[in-house]
Amino acid sequence: MKIALFDTHRFERPIFESLEARFGQELTFLEPKLNEETAKLAAGFPAVCAFVNDRLNAAVLSELHAGGVKLIALRSAGYNHVDLPVASALGITVVRVPAYSPYAVAEHAVALMMAINRKLCRASARIHDLNFSLEGLVGFDMHGKTVGIIGTGKIGSVMASILKGFGCEILAYDPFPDSTLVARLGVRYVSLEELYRNSDIITLHLPLSPTTQHLIDANAFSQMKKTAMLINTGRGGLIDTQALINALKCQELGSAGLDVYEEEETIFSRDLSESVLKDDVLARLMTFPNVLITAHQAFLTHEALHNIAETTLENVRNFEQGQDLKNEVHARGAIG
Ligand code: NAI
Repeated sequence: MKIALFDTHRFERPIFESLEARFGQELTFLEPKLNEETAKLAAGFPAVCAFVNDRLNAAVLSELHAGGVKLIALRSAGYNHVDLPVASALGITVVRVPAYSPYAVAEHAVALMMAINRKLCRASARIHDLNFSLEGLVGFDMHGKTVGIIGTGKIGSVMASILKGFGCEILAYDPFPDSTLVARLGVRYVSLEELYRNSDIITLHLPLSPTTQHLIDANAFSQMKKTAMLINTGRGGLIDTQALINALKCQELGSAGLDVYEEEETIFSRDLSESVLKDDVLARLMTFPNVLITAHQAFLTHEALHNIAETTLENVRNFEQGQDLKNEVHARGAIG
């Protein structure tokens, strides 16, 4: 089947190419992100492959449908960027990669935590300036700290295992508690309020939906410890960014590690080094020494990229052969 892959990067192309023949697909790699302006590039392709910052709203889906697209194969687990009821009404099937490496994401969340805690970016910058002073680099032991995990699915569970290894106390909030985490790791499920009040570190591993949009708002910050560290590798929209800035300014929050940002779509994964940053909110966030930002790279390991490519091509082949689509995303499973 002919597949148009949008928002493709040099780091993933060879992996897809190495699997192309095995799955009998014909791949066309496109660099632009999918949006209202670029959707017409998919005309004549029965399948489109999209990533997290591609836009799959009603207008884009209608254009894809007009061009003959029957299948959207997401190279992501999250599907908050797809208007599923519209896709369903247009008869477009949507499939995703539900799990490609929960380890990749959880380990990146831990990397953010440790880099902030032990002030690694500041330390490295200093060393390059031949400043070997230790002033201002004091961190804290992870051992004995309380970490609140919001969302204990695939990634949140891996997170709990890693943090257990550090000797942390683990609080969790999830509408569907996992009893194996309670038995195996001593995770304690509590209310959100209790988690906010007692956690030294809070880490977000839940999907973005209309009900979780801005879950972390001014009210949430007001309940957290003033020294708390907030880690977000989930989705940017889980945090009200303006409220985060206010909390950091008023020293109501200790620090933040962000792999996602609610307005990342036109910024992340692009090289803007010869341009100007027009987003004043992100610019303000970048001025805080206690904020560490990465550009949605938590998934970026060799293992995850291989699994994403393999599952994506398998999804397309199963669709083509009329087989059962275990990774289909249904409109009723949509957010909310
Ligand atoms: P999952 O579906 O295995 O787990 C999500 C968990 O969140 C479930 O246990 C669910 O019950 C829980 N949940 C749902 N609503 C909640 C709420 N209101 N409060 C608390 N918990 C709630 O998903 P997985 O694989 O663990 O991924 C989690 C999220 O991580 C994804 O939705 C995606 O947005 C994000 N992600 C980010 C990546 C990155 O590169 N930064 C890569 C992959 C995923």
